[in-house]
Amino acid sequence: MQIRQPIVAVLGHVDSGKTSLLDRIRGTGVQGREAGGITQHIGASFLPSETIKETCGILYKKLEQAEHKVPGILVIDTPGHEVFTNLRSRGGSAADIAILVVDVNRGFQPQTNESLKILQSRKVPFVVALNKCDQISGWRKSDTKFISQAIKEQDASIQTDLDQKIYDVVGTLSILGYQSEAFYRVKDFKSEIAIVPISARSGVGIPELLSVLVGLTQQYLQKRLNQEEKEPRGIVLEVNDEVGLGQTANIILIDGSIKKENSIVVAKRDSVIVTKPKAILLPKPLDEMRDPRDKFKPVPQVDAAAGLKIASPDLEGVLPGSTLYVATNDAEIEKFTKLIEAE
Ligand code: GTP
Ligand code: MG
Ligand code: NA
Repeated sequence: MQIRQPIVAVLGHVDSGKTSLLDRIRGTGVQGREAGGITQHIGASFLPSETIKETCGILYKKLEQAEHKVPGILVIDTPGHEVFTNLRSRGGSAADIAILVVDVNRGFQPQTNESLKILQSRKVPFVVALNKCDQISGWRKSDTKFISQAIKEQDASIQTDLDQKIYDVVGTLSILGYQSEAFYRVKDFKSEIAIVPISARSGVGIPELLSVLVGLTQQYLQKRLNQEEKEPRGIVLEVNDEVGLGQTANIILIDGSIKKENSIVVAKRDSVIVTKPKAILLPKPLDEMRDPRDKFKPVPQVDAAAGLKIASPDLEGVLPGSTLYVATNDAEIEKFTKLIEAE
């Protein structure tokens, strides 16, 4: 059995630190270039195994022993601003698992609840990242990147304060029907939501956050990530007219492969189009698709899960959010056309 990269959506209230968390993991500075510091699009970037290994440090040893190891992660950044409900829900619908980011000093906020409802309705498992721990008043900076160690280095009153903030989240989640616990107290990861205190600013807690996430994925999501007998499909994020490329679509390939000689089957407002990509373009690993450091690379084939760009003049008028299928022959074109028409 071969499992693909899990698609991990990052959701939460505006300014809880979603983009900053990803910047910290990728070593990028996307957040600082956003207009008003506000995310307005769905982002995607690929974290290779090497990055997961480096980030998790000694915790990677255990992940490495799993029967089915994840070949990296595709992370999806979503906006937290209230006007972007549709983008949050699009990001959530592509996700295999999610990180719900909560500002430790603010607790649950309106779009935290909204994000949770999206995850709940799609039955997406998730981990809570309790972010901005460095902003807890009296928090002592330490050298370790492991939050379990950093907590031990805090004064007793700060430890109590953090515990109280964790229990506030536990209480809120329990009202919403979830059992949850600080990750170091979780006994059964299948029935309890893990809460991981982190700081996107200092990086503390991110090793534990990633290792809990990857551990969960490798243990419980194998079936979903198995690529046998999966229909090649993706979701359209944006359609743009780009200089030198013409009409392009940024897509997330959720399952299967896409090759240059394949046909893309996708809905327009009142028709279904079938088109062969003029080019398939892949961003570099760790590059945010909507703000890449390097140029996208033309490739003959991409395997799921991945964020990529396809160029084709026929894409004009395709609606963001549409499902897209990849067909290798006429029978499949017909099958996917019918599937879309039935939607
Ligand atoms: P939207 O995408 O617009 O919803 O926001 P976001 O959730 O992506 O948050 P963003 O990364 O834009 O961070 C918002 C602000 O919080 C920025 O000024 C960050 O520098 C700051 N911030 C994020 N994480 C931390 C943290 O761990 N500690 C501190 N002190 N500040 C943080
Ligand atoms: Mg953001
Ligand atoms: Na922001």
